[in-house]
Amino acid sequence: MGKKLIIANWKMNLTVNEASLFVHRLDDLVGKRRGVEIVLAPTMLAVQPLHLQVQHHHFNLAAQNFYWRDHGAYTGEVSASQLRGLVQYGLVGHSERRHVFGERSKDIRSKVQAAVRNGITPVLCIGETASERADGETADAIHDQLIGGLANITSVEVEHIVVAYEPVWAIGTGKFAAPRDVSRAVKLIRKQIKQLFGALAAKHVRVLYGGSVNVDNASAYLQIDGVDGLLIGDTSLDVRAFAEIIKKADVIDKAVARKAA
Ligand code: 13P
Repeated sequence: MGKKLIIANWKMNLTVNEASLFVHRLDDLVGKRRGVEIVLAPTMLAVQPLHLQVQHHHFNLAAQNFYWRDHGAYTGEVSASQLRGLVQYGLVGHSERRHVFGERSKDIRSKVQAAVRNGITPVLCIGETASERADGETADAIHDQLIGGLANITSVEVEHIVVAYEPVWAIGTGKFAAPRDVSRAVKLIRKQIKQLFGALAAKHVRVLYGGSVNVDNASAYLQIDGVDGLLIGDTSLDVRAFAEIIKKADVIDKAVARKAA
């Protein structure tokens, strides 16, 4: 079992200066937490300056978005090849990209492939909408988004990616998924990955939960068998709350390591 992976998705919040200040404060609050991999997904503007800053700390960076072609006449876009070396992770298929910006499966699988091609670990975000949930279509939605997102990469590459289960109805709403339902969804994700890409891919792929995670509910998710970490929106903008969650993840990792010893 690897370290817990905790990703802060700041979305379109924090200026470059605020992001930099956050990194200083977070470092003061969490110090070295060896049981946790901490990843920050800042505004694209802050990626370069934070890249220089985080080298002195123990944080990694993620891009919130990028275009799938490596270069060319695509005004306003940033490519995975331009982000190469600056970020370790790239979010792909986030529900806001799907629903606000109309990204389709075709775009999403091209981005997953572009990330892999450029040495960036894709974090493929999937999850059912409220109406899919109400209609009992959660399993189908997950299945379609996994096939749609992963169709361009190999089983070996799937082993190294991250899948974030983020029910759309739980994002930014304060309505979080019951740990029992998350456990069921995460089992389903691994089962479907096993059917599509084999047992090794299902074993090694890291699966996160995201959707209204806060200081009070984080531990319950982190203790679910098969949940390797969290993708956090709103709460990650509060440095104290985010640090608190990291400390909880570190404690859980140590407890698991003791049990396994
Ligand atoms: P919230 O934590 O604000 O619900 O956002 C979750 C999310 O979208 C992370 O990517």
